[in-house]
Amino acid sequence: MSKLNIRGIGHYIPDTLISNDELSRIMDTSDEWITKRTGIKTRYVSSNDDTSILAFEAAKRALEDANITIEEIDLVICATITPDDFTPSVACKLLKYFKTDKIMALDINAACSGFVYALNVASSLLEANGFKYALVVGAEKLSKLLDYNDRSTAILFGDGAGACVVSADENNAYFYCKAKGDTNDVLYASGVKGSKPLNNSCCEDYYLKMNGREVYRFAVDALDDAITSILNKSQMTIEDIDYIVPHQANIRIIDQVAKQMNIPYEKVLTNLNKFGNTSAASIPLLLSEAYNENKIKKGDNVLLAGFGAGLTWASAIIKM
Ligand code: ACO
Repeated sequence: MSKLNIRGIGHYIPDTLISNDELSRIMDTSDEWITKRTGIKTRYVSSNDDTSILAFEAAKRALEDANITIEEIDLVICATITPDDFTPSVACKLLKYFKTDKIMALDINAACSGFVYALNVASSLLEANGFKYALVVGAEKLSKLLDYNDRSTAILFGDGAGACVVSADENNAYFYCKAKGDTNDVLYASGVKGSKPLNNSCCEDYYLKMNGREVYRFAVDALDDAITSILNKSQMTIEDIDYIVPHQANIRIIDQVAKQMNIPYEKVLTNLNKFGNTSAASIPLLLSEAYNENKIKKGDNVLLAGFGAGLTWASAIIKM
């Protein structure tokens, strides 16, 4: 068992809203197809700012909500698959923007499971190092990885960021984080391929590629396993959980798992109709939005569950 307290929470939505109708003007798709197959109606993209700025905006809001200054933070973790650069990390860029130093800072790449992985790592590092507070961020600018000639992938994703200030004291928390190799390459975005020494290399095709049907099958199994396993680990049942905050990929994935696990639909939160799939940002974005709307309240037991590229899947039960 671990410890985790959410001390503050915030999110940031980038400036540009893109509707399904707008997408249908640049590719062979329609609002009807996208809505029916995914549940997504709109997504937001950032026209100028890169991932670290989205992360910074969410981080500022979480610190403000916690009433804690950056100087009180001992650890910064950013979950992302769309960092601005190979190096420095987004977490280090946050330190630059906050004009602070002497804080442990690192990024985590576990795709759409990244924020849950990051909370697990934060909980462990806080305890192991005797640290007081961590700033944990999930931030993505997925729009820079999208191939707008690939209609089955480009319609799904959006940009955004969410952040929490956490401590590892009073409340019990449970984590379950798993991964396996992507044997059939069903979901990936290539990096710069190694060239021969003394030759310049350049990334040619780094767009996100996905075998939608294979990913769908994996996602349903992974989400079911993530929820089942964390309930078993915590010796809780679905009745003990106030809300489930699943990764926002496709409403059909969420509906199917809720149905097969007999989870009351009112317990399952979604906002993918507005934001699409924001990968590592999707869980903190939904958690923060639901908290700000007074849906999730202090003291609620919340089950977080993610799945994504890697392949990874992860869950947590935390008390708000
Ligand atoms: N508009 C119109 N038609 C489309 C579109 C589109 N945007 N995209 C695909 N189609 C067509 C296909 O070409 C195909 O046509 P065909 O029958 O003539 O060949 C038809 O629609 C059906 O295609 P499918 O791929 O079978 O459609 P499906 O119902 O599986 O939906 C989707 C596709 C939405 C991608 C679905 O498979 C899915 O959501 N998969 C999971 C994706 C996911 O969750 N990814 C994120 C993982 S998280 C992470 O880590 C990044």
